[in-house]
Amino acid sequence: MSKGTYYVTTPIYYPSAKLHIGHTYTTVAADALSKFKRFTGHDVVFLTGTDEHGEKIQEAAEKNGKKPKEYVDEIVADIKKIWDRMEISYDIFLRTTDEAHKKSVQKIFQKLYDQGDIYKSEYEGWYCTPCESFWTETQLKEGSCCPDCNRPAHLAKEEAYFFKISKYQDRLIKYFEDHPEICYPESRKNEMLNNFLKPGLEDLCVSRTSFNWGIPVPFDEKHVIYVWFDAVSNYITALGYGSDDDSQYKKYWPADVHIVGKEIVRFHTIIWPAMLMALGEPLPKMVYGHGWILFGQDKMSKSKGNIVYPEPIIERYGIDALKYFLLKEFTFGQDGNFTNRIFLNRLNSDLANDLGNLVSRTVAMVEKYNEGLIERTGEKEDLDQELQQVALNAYKKVEAAMDKLQFHEALEEIWKVIRRTNKYIDETTPWILGKDVDKKARLNEVLYNLVDSIRIIAILIKPFMEHTSNKIWTQLGLDENTMIWENSQTFGKTPEGTKVAKGEGLFQRLDIEKEIKVIEEENEVYLESLNPNEAKVEVMEHKEEITIDDFSKLELRTAKVLKAEKHPKADRLYVLQLEVGNETRQVVSGIAQHYTLEELVGKQVILVMNLKPVKLRGVESQGMILAAANDEKLVLATAGDEMPTGTLIS
Ligand code: MSP
Repeated sequence: MSKGTYYVTTPIYYPSAKLHIGHTYTTVAADALSKFKRFTGHDVVFLTGTDEHGEKIQEAAEKNGKKPKEYVDEIVADIKKIWDRMEISYDIFLRTTDEAHKKSVQKIFQKLYDQGDIYKSEYEGWYCTPCESFWTETQLKEGSCCPDCNRPAHLAKEEAYFFKISKYQDRLIKYFEDHPEICYPESRKNEMLNNFLKPGLEDLCVSRTSFNWGIPVPFDEKHVIYVWFDAVSNYITALGYGSDDDSQYKKYWPADVHIVGKEIVRFHTIIWPAMLMALGEPLPKMVYGHGWILFGQDKMSKSKGNIVYPEPIIERYGIDALKYFLLKEFTFGQDGNFTNRIFLNRLNSDLANDLGNLVSRTVAMVEKYNEGLIERTGEKEDLDQELQQVALNAYKKVEAAMDKLQFHEALEEIWKVIRRTNKYIDETTPWILGKDVDKKARLNEVLYNLVDSIRIIAILIKPFMEHTSNKIWTQLGLDENTMIWENSQTFGKTPEGTKVAKGEGLFQRLDIEKEIKVIEEENEVYLESLNPNEAKVEVMEHKEEITIDDFSKLELRTAKVLKAEKHPKADRLYVLQLEVGNETRQVVSGIAQHYTLEELVGKQVILVMNLKPVKLRGVESQGMILAAANDEKLVLATAGDEMPTGTLIS
């Protein structure tokens, strides 16, 4: 019997670049939640998709010499491929370029216009192109930067339609107070209330005329609908809202949870609820803003060159390892650091040692001491009780953690059972019981308890690690039909006479240092294998604005390479002697992969002369030479050789 409907959504992704580990995080979480809810008896709809309109996509397509639709089609196909590869169990994949979605969004826009919630006016404000967001002056960060992404915003003015969001401000505040789940975790709710809602909402500009890649405003075709208005509507249009058949909408709305990254919480807890209020529709039950996966201290991004893609990791370590890591390592809601070392350590400690060893030791012992057969003899001891209690109480704790979307807590509860079972082996020492024929009955009871506890563990991990769960089930020789959630709630469900069969190890113990090198290399090979257009479509990230006074602090001069040598300790570095007027400067430069020593001698370069000297791997560097560089190429900057060395560049 169904325990009722459950509707879970991810954000719809921009098809402007290949998805990296950070994106897969949101989807892996939503997928685990969906699988968990299905497994525990709910009628689930899991929605994901792509957010395909807007200036950013139009620009990216133009850069690649393609029409927007042609451009997004290719990337969307790739996004679907990665979800298939990761066995993501979405039920609906919505594309905002789908005709049905476009029609429904136009209907929503029309309805709000007809009832006076959308009106025409003129907009002047600060616009952040990468975020497709207008900001007021007071919301901007230092240097006129966007408060969301910290990139410079620019002043823009246009005739536009506005959504009267201000009208809903008080209702929204009240709603936040009465329904705290509208914005989880708590810290984000307070941020929304204090930084946006309470200071006052300004009406939202919901149309654009500066580009045309979007859904036309139905009654004024030179405007396209603001991409966020279009995008958030997907959560209801996907269920048929505004179409002839809205039976799914009636059945599944309101959503049980929208899972989103922290930087887009505002759109989901203020703009989207206000739109629903205006439409007279119920609000989502919960919006959960998770943290970012950081690489070093930065959010992963192509322009920072710190991207980790899921494909090479999956190829080498499997889907379960990656999913387990993402859900266990990071507290859902908070930022966390991704490093290959942390990832590999987790694999070794939790998967190879704790879980893998438990299963292989147990199966090996049942084979060794009882020809692989499971028997229950009733030779109990007090300590069996403790193991059984831990194992059969886990499901409640896992359910409670999952209701709060605390994936790491749910997995921790399961790992408590795994660790307790390992401890039981140490306490009962089956290898000693095995030496004494009189202890055979006790030995079989101990083995039964171990197998039954592992049976419960296999059920509990199923929504998170399906392959591993199935492999364990097969090794234990259990019937597929008994792999149901309810069977994790009773101890002793393993039938007597079941025969275990040792299979391949679940997870290998890894040599961390060796693996780190392999992953780094594989990630690079993978990056090179990508279509260069695909890998390079991210919008340029600008640095903070500077004044001419800031610039004039730099002493840039023409220079000539007199001598070039290899750095004694680092393959990537050269040590150069430069002629700068009547001075000679030594500079250490990381260009060894791009130039031969011979090519450099006699070359004219540009030197930053007043950079504080530093030692690079033990050799002093008195300045820096300039170059244009990306991931693949590096070309030294030069002012040509018409000017004498030492000439100031300004
Ligand atoms: N198109 C909008 C969402 C519209 S929803 C109506 C968008 N797309 S996105 O592709 O830029 O991001 C999708 C999701 O990926 C966001 O939830 C974002 O937070 C998440 N992540 C992207 N990089 C991330 C990390 N490094 N770490 C964790 N999640 C991150 O925003």
